[in-house]
Formats: sequence, C-alpha cells, structure tokens
Amino acid sequence: MQNFTKESMLDIINILEKKLQVLPSKKVLEFEVINPDCCSSTYAGNVREVQGKQYVYRGYKAWTDLAQSLNCRMLTPLVNSKNTIVVRLEKLEEDVSFHKSVTEKEEKYGVNSIFSEIHKMEEPAFASHYLRALQNVKIDSRVRILNLGVNSGDEFELIQKYSKNFTNLELVGVDYCVSAINEAKNKFENHPNVSFYAHDVNDLSSLNLGEFDLIISVGTLQSSNLEFNPLFMSIVQNQLKKDGAMILGFPNCRWIDGEMIYGARVKNYPFSEMGLLYKDVMFCKKYLQQKKFRVTITGKDYIFLTATSIKKAIL
Ligand SMILES: C[S@@+](CC[C@H](N)C(=O)[O-])C[C@H]1O[C@@H](n2cnc3c(N)ncnc32)[C@H](O)[C@@H]1O
Repeated sequence: MQNFTKESMLDIINILEKKLQVLPSKKVLEFEVINPDCCSSTYAGNVREVQGKQYVYRGYKAWTDLAQSLNCRMLTPLVNSKNTIVVRLEKLEEDVSFHKSVTEKEEKYGVNSIFSEIHKMEEPAFASHYLRALQNVKIDSRVRILNLGVNSGDEFELIQKYSKNFTNLELVGVDYCVSAINEAKNKFENHPNVSFYAHDVNDLSSLNLGEFDLIISVGTLQSSNLEFNPLFMSIVQNQLKKDGAMILGFPNCRWIDGEMIYGARVKNYPFSEMGLLYKDVMFCKKYLQQKKFRVTITGKDYIFLTATSIKKAIL
C-alpha cells in the first residue's frame, strides 16, 4: 500500500491523480499517513516525529478537502498502527447526478428526480449560512415572504423551525414544477398562512402577488430558461417593498453521487470556474446598493447575498 511520510501535498496530489485516472468509479484508493490525532494545535505541513520516523502532519480537514478536489468520497479511515491511519477514498460515479438527468425541464427537480434526494438543510455548509442570512434579515420582523423556485418547500421549513411567530407570517412559494409544489402543499396543508403556486417565474406579474418584505430565491435565478439581469431587476422593482430584504443563494457546488462537491461548474470547463457566479452576484450587489440596500455576501458551497434596506433600518 502507498505510504506517505514526508512527501509534499503537491506530490501526493500528483501520485493520487495518476492512480485515479485508471481506477474505475466506486473503487477505493487507500494510502497510509500519520494519524491526525497524534498531535493537536498543529497546522498542516509541520513535521512531527513518531517512534523515530518523520512525517508531514495533516488533519482530517486536509484529507476531506483532498477527497472533494479529487472527486472522491472519504470513507471511514482505518487505524493501521499506533501512529498511522489508512485514508480511503472512493471514486465518485460522475453520471449519478441530477445535473445530467434528461427529463422535461419542469420535472427535472420533481419528486421523482435525483434532485429530490438532496436535503440541503442537512449540509452544514448550506444550513449554517442560510440560517445566518435569515438572522441578518431579522426574519421575525418580516411579514410577507416570497420564495421563487421554492421546490418542495425546504426553505420554508427552516423558517418554520426558526421563527418565533410563524403563524403571523404570510409565506408564498412559486415554482413551475407541479410535483414539487404538490409536495410543498402537503407539507404545509395545516398552515393557511402558507400558499404555493405552480407557475413560471417568467410570468410572475400575472399572479398579482403584490410586494413582499422578504424575497428568497436559492439556486433558481441562474437557470438557463431565465434571463438573469432583467428578471432580477423586475423582481426588485415590482415585488420587493422599498424597505424590504432579499436573500439570494447562488450554487457554488455540484451534487454528484451523494456528495456536495465544492465549486461552480460552467459549460466548456472541465474544472470549477466561478466567473459567472461572481458576475451575477456583483450585478445584484451593485443594483441593490443603488436602490439603497446594504448588501453582504457570505457562504461557501452556496454563496448567499443578503440585502436589507438602509432607508428604514429595522431595529
Ligand atoms: C436548483 S432548484 C432549487 C430549488 C430550491 N430553491 C433549492 O435550493 O433546493 C431550481 C428550482 O427552480 C425551479 N425553476 C426553474 N426555472 C423556473 C421557472 N422558469 N419558473 C418557476 N420555477 C422555476 C425548478 O423547478 C426548481 O425547483
């Protein structure tokens, strides 16, 4: 078995990439390294001596990050000897992804899709930042809340858990996926303050929904069937109250074979490329600042743009 002692991380990446090129998907790549628990308060790269042998130290964070960047899943390591472990990386099956699913566009995110198996609220890299965004906009001070691309209502469920006055809120969710909207309606059937519309966001005006205190849209406005800039501006102009707030979530990850893999992907690049993501985020930021909103940008696997009006600060 491959054993890494004083090799640099660049050497390790090089060696593992070559091995992965010829390894079939779902097969496991194993290698032995120093046990990360052998010492504490140690940054990756420091040399530690255990039982007369020198090793470059790295923690589990380094190995899980490496797994992601190599498109692998980190399996439970084995404790091999007193001071070493075996890191085990399973090569992901790239085709098991909803990004590649071919189905009619409205049902790509439906209840029978691979997407329906994704529960973002169980991913800390999503949930913690979304929760912070809700706190930033002082969710309990907002009454009318609109979610565009609400799918089966996950993002309302967190509001329900977190809000101190959920029944006083009026929540409206829009999505053109009929099966997802039906599931959302079932989830909230006992809540008359929550309503859902199976409707195309391109034709939002025909719903006559009025203006909202908070508009949320996660992973939706960049969809290829929507024209990002004009749609975003029309939402701000027609649907958002002047003293309202916004939370926009931009995916900066891919969902592959059970894993949320960091980094946005765009056509024609075989690696993560975030130019489009930054362009769209900055467009929204500048536009909202012109309209007198305070804008923050947070997050990691999802980038959250949070905007609150500075015209009437809610204390
Ligand atoms: C990537 S999913 C995100 C869903 C949810 N916000 C989440 O993050 O889990 C995009 C959602 O936008 C919906 N969608 C895409 N284009 C739409 C359109 N033109 N009108 C209404 N919904 C749309 C899809 O059906 C899907 O539910």
